[in-house]
Amino acid sequence: SFTAVHALQILDSRGHPTVRVTLTAGDGVMVTASAPSGASTGAHEAMELRDGGAGYGGRGVESAVAGINSSIRELLLSRSWPNQRTLDAALCELDGTPEKSRLGANAIVAVSMAAARAFSNLSGDSLHTWIAQSLGTAERLPVPHFNVLNGGAHSANPLAFQEFMIAPIGASTLPEAIRWGSEIYHALGAELRRKGLSTGLGDEGGYAPEISKPEEALELITQAITDAGYSLGEGGVSIALDPAANYFYHDGSYELNGRSYTSRELSNYYDSLILNFPIRSLEDPLAEDDPRGWPELTAALGDRVQVVGDDLFVSNAGRVQIGIETAAANAVLIKPNQVGTVTETLDTLTVADQGGFTAMVSHRSGETEDTFVADLAVGSGCGQIKSGAPARGERVAKYNRLLEIADASPNLPYGLGTAGQKNGGP
Ligand code: PGA
Ligand code: ZN
Repeated sequence: SFTAVHALQILDSRGHPTVRVTLTAGDGVMVTASAPSGASTGAHEAMELRDGGAGYGGRGVESAVAGINSSIRELLLSRSWPNQRTLDAALCELDGTPEKSRLGANAIVAVSMAAARAFSNLSGDSLHTWIAQSLGTAERLPVPHFNVLNGGAHSANPLAFQEFMIAPIGASTLPEAIRWGSEIYHALGAELRRKGLSTGLGDEGGYAPEISKPEEALELITQAITDAGYSLGEGGVSIALDPAANYFYHDGSYELNGRSYTSRELSNYYDSLILNFPIRSLEDPLAEDDPRGWPELTAALGDRVQVVGDDLFVSNAGRVQIGIETAAANAVLIKPNQVGTVTETLDTLTVADQGGFTAMVSHRSGETEDTFVADLAVGSGCGQIKSGAPARGERVAKYNRLLEIADASPNLPYGLGTAGQKNGGP
């Protein structure tokens, strides 16, 4: 059982306040977790509690911190907790709102992640192994999807698409994948300098040059992959896009490349990009408010690329279930703070797996040095993680945690894996 609960306000990678909590349990266990924060959020995400007012532009989290240091502390110290599910259910009940707006999802997710660390410590397992046991999955080192070029809400450049990621799926080990990612990132920097383009960075550590067309970004990236000496596609390095289409969807149409697209036209545009570039994954290709567009796009492109719902599903099991039933996508992005507790996050992974969806575990654009998502990616066996560029402390913290896990567990497989392998099959 817990003996102390203490939260404080810290800064995230954008310099905005966020919540850090430390839990102490008997037997000398002391664990910490910090809440990340998105910039391009889905409308149905669990809600952060922000103070408003003048300080920090209204983004202070002293109220969320105070909730942890009062009613959540009282709850946690009031009894002993048999498992994560019971604790998370009690947190949700104490909050009492469907969107976790009273105590704040930022407060609840930090407590829930810290509790998972405490449960894993008490069980004597590493966090990733504890997660695998909770889910009944086989552990796997994921393919890192490095976001090397930033646009959209994560940068000031005129590029509409938010994320251009490189995925070293042809690497044979995780350390090799990290090396490929780093080399390509630096090759891209050199190429930008050669072309007189800016090497300033966006929120996730990727370059944010003053370009506006997705094709320009894709040309730069494929050139960097080749310059670094790697091949394009399956045996080498593939590309994943997160257009984050909410951001350029206005009044029922998509505003991009100086023109307006219907969802069908945008789907055809993606089709042309897939034909010309080694794209393996498309996240939020359409807006969350375009429910008819998603199944059409997935029917058209889903046999050639992974179609990932992020803002569409907000890591919510019920929303993913609807997505499965309507074939709106074929994959889900997993961000614990979108739904608010570790238990709900794990339940969403289970629903996705049972419905034949793949999953990619993800950081947020506003991050801390917390590495929970690295363990979540390994423990879930989902085979995919995105944590921004292979640069900047809050991004490399996750990749470095993966390197640490790989080093400590040299027999863990690396790569995308198959549906069967996730559940411990061959
Ligand atoms: P966010 O962006 O953390 O700003 O929401 C990440 C994403 O859209 O995947
Ligand atoms: Zn996204």
